[in-house]
Amino acid sequence: MRVNLRKLFLIGSFAAILWIIVSYMSTLESPEPVKKFNKVVMIENTLNLLEERVDMQLKESNKLLDRVKQHLKKTEYLAKERDAKDQMDADISAFNPVLPVLVIACDRVSVHRCLENLVRFRPSKKTFPIIISQDCGHNATYHVIKRFVDEDSSITLVRQPDLTDIKLPRTKLKFNGYYKIARHFRFALNHVFKTLNHEAVIIVEDDLDISPDFFEYFLGTYPLLLKDPSIWCISAWNDNGKKDIIDLSRPELLHRTDFFPGLGWLLRQESWEYLEPNWPPAFFDDWLRNPQNTRGRSCIRPEISRTYTFGKVGVSKGLFFDMHLRHMQLNMEYVEFTKMNLSYLIKDVYDPAFKQQAYSASLKTAAEVVSYSGGPDDKARVTYKDAKSFQKAAKTLGLMDDFRSGIPRTAYLGIVNCYIRGRRVYLVPEFDWVKYDPAWG
Ligand code: UD1
Ligand code: MN
Repeated sequence: MRVNLRKLFLIGSFAAILWIIVSYMSTLESPEPVKKFNKVVMIENTLNLLEERVDMQLKESNKLLDRVKQHLKKTEYLAKERDAKDQMDADISAFNPVLPVLVIACDRVSVHRCLENLVRFRPSKKTFPIIISQDCGHNATYHVIKRFVDEDSSITLVRQPDLTDIKLPRTKLKFNGYYKIARHFRFALNHVFKTLNHEAVIIVEDDLDISPDFFEYFLGTYPLLLKDPSIWCISAWNDNGKKDIIDLSRPELLHRTDFFPGLGWLLRQESWEYLEPNWPPAFFDDWLRNPQNTRGRSCIRPEISRTYTFGKVGVSKGLFFDMHLRHMQLNMEYVEFTKMNLSYLIKDVYDPAFKQQAYSASLKTAAEVVSYSGGPDDKARVTYKDAKSFQKAAKTLGLMDDFRSGIPRTAYLGIVNCYIRGRRVYLVPEFDWVKYDPAWG
């Protein structure tokens, strides 16, 4: 009887719990179909909203991704630049370079002006011994040079021994001077590289003035010459170096160029070894402007020249001097090139950035460029399609308009850059540039 009561109590409780659960569930469910429909619409709306948000988020993420990509590109560029710099620093600190200065002299007694400046601005006799090579057997000039040699053991003199006339057909007699210059350069460079076995040399002509940072310029850029096999020379000269077409506020700025500028230049022994066997009988500078002779390599040149030529009376006579050379700007500010990061000039780093700058500049006509009076941060691009249109634009801009082996002065990858009325200007080929065309002149 007690057991049965217990059973009954258990069944009763179970039924009561069941009833509570069922009645609770029934309050949860909404029996009306309209309410159900509203809920579906609401869910649909919410889903649509969510989808829109996801879309927006996706767009934002893509934008962010683009920015990350751009940043990575920049970081990659900076890393390339840093690596190049690290390597150059390692190079320059691993040895104490000796960079002799070779002075090419003939019959100008004014060579004293050149020598005085070299002595005045030279920071170290040990790093920069001066070697004067004299051609022409001119006695008065010899005595001027002798004064410097006698006073300073780091200054030496060598004399070009072959003073014979070079036999030339009558039509070429007027070029006699250029034949003698080429013969003298061959002798002098053989003396420096073969007799004295120097690693590199800075070549200066007797009618050149130098800037106060001339030596610092070559010392700072020498590692580039060692590091980058696409560079064969460092020059102190900007062929388009007149004050109206350069940026006077950027004395530290350097460029790559496919046009050999000469007029104060640094050459390695290694390069002389392959140049010397084919050295030309005359016009050696134009010969060095033919890419076939320099293995298609480039030079470094400054925005503002580190030399100035005062030799109005010379082998090439005075017209060119009065038209151009007289107006060239000599840099007077001292730039500490040895403390600067110059790895932006390494080919891998320089080429893509240079092309990007040039081709992204806004398109203008040469006439618009020379009458511009806007802000300083802008940059402009003027295009040319052939030799004639190049020359026309160059004339308007005030640039040199001649070619050697099809290369315009200061050109790099077919592009000439200068600075006019507060902005960088690029004279850019309109066509897909592959190489210079010797037929242009
Ligand atoms: C021009 C170039 C010069 C280049 C030369 C070679 C300019 C401003 N000048 O000479 O850079 O080296 O063409 O083609 O672009 N000399 C001799 N022996 C001679 C005559 C001259 O050694 O018989 C020396 C001079 O001392 C001087 C150099 O050669 O150092 C150039 O002579 P210069 O008379 O100045 O000729 P440029 O017309 O300037
Ligand atoms: Mn000269």
